[in-house]
Amino acid sequence: MSNIAVLGAMWGDEGKGHITHHLSRDYDWVIRFNGGANAGHTIYRDGVKFVHNLLPSVDFRHPHVKAYLGSGMVIDLEKLRDEVVEADKTYPGVGRRIYVDKDAFIVEQKHKEEDKASNAHIGSTNRGIGPAYKDKIGRSGKRVGNLFYEGEPAALLDLMKLGVNFTTVLEIEDAFRASNLLFEGAQGVLLDINHGIYPYVSCSDATVGGIIASGFAFAKLDRVYGVAKCYTTKVGEGPFPTELHGEAADDLRKLGNEFGATTGRPRRVGWLDLAALTYACKKGGITHLILTKFDILNGMPKVPVAVMYKKTPTSPSDFFNAVPLTTEVAGWDDAKDYSQLKDFIGLVEKFTKRPVGFISCGTDDRDITNWAA
Ligand code: IMO
Ligand code: MG
Repeated sequence: MSNIAVLGAMWGDEGKGHITHHLSRDYDWVIRFNGGANAGHTIYRDGVKFVHNLLPSVDFRHPHVKAYLGSGMVIDLEKLRDEVVEADKTYPGVGRRIYVDKDAFIVEQKHKEEDKASNAHIGSTNRGIGPAYKDKIGRSGKRVGNLFYEGEPAALLDLMKLGVNFTTVLEIEDAFRASNLLFEGAQGVLLDINHGIYPYVSCSDATVGGIIASGFAFAKLDRVYGVAKCYTTKVGEGPFPTELHGEAADDLRKLGNEFGATTGRPRRVGWLDLAALTYACKKGGITHLILTKFDILNGMPKVPVAVMYKKTPTSPSDFFNAVPLTTEVAGWDDAKDYSQLKDFIGLVEKFTKRPVGFISCGTDDRDITNWAA
């Protein structure tokens, strides 16, 4: 059996959904283990765009692949119902391939209201994530499984009618042990509650630790991929050492269509930051990298990259007032001419000490290449 994880290596929106969707055909289960509807995973299937907030990025065209929403998540059941209804239109009966861990906690209306009222200074997505995790840690949260004893809300009944399964890891552990598992992270290591740039973080475990915390300690991981764009984006407040401003930022944002998949907000943009990426590899448990969106920088003669900071970051506090040291590397006219990407990828591998496994240079499945092959 082969198990892998695909994690965000930076501040989210690295292209995890696109990559997971492509790889999912080789796995039996795609398992989300953290976060909730704050995630926005954009997938293109047969030229049609789908955004998954709660559902794992399964390629539903392959009937053997199942989706699991793990216990580390916080789930807005109405939002999940809407996503399953949408998926069911294209793939009738798809609900039967979707499993929800009864130990996951729920996001309630009050959590979304509290988020809006108290977390604007972080730039929260207002999906109720922080308040739901606060209740969980404060021991006043409610698990999905509790609802079966309290009278099921309409959204839960709808999900059951759609065929969605409610279970636990231990109930189906044998099936997991006999399967190939792909763990799909949400957010990114720099947004992780423990290792991200606190307090400008989300509230879940976005590192490899989140997989174990969700009850999958038995699943030995063969590879942990960290996904990063060949430049960097961030949504919300907080330090961003390689951030661009003014016209340069506007140009890159427009080229990369860097507007939030969940909230539509313009994303902050900047150059690739290898100090932050190396930190994320170490803290996140990342063994291999996946680099995305090379096509966006087509035609740039030189591409700036921050290779280190004056002080190597070893703690989240080192990102405040960090001084990046930047170099320029030869650019590419056409990202599909892979020979032109060698200098850039070589630099990333040298500084992060992690091999690049896959690259992507477009939204189509054919735009993903096994770089290591
Ligand atoms: P995916 O999975 C980008 C950011 C928010 C905000 C901070 C806290 O698509 O990569 P929260 O609502 O979680 O309390 O917001 O985290 N954030 C994300 N940014 N992609 C995401 O997920 C994000 N999930 C949360 O913008 O700065
Ligand atoms: Mg996102």
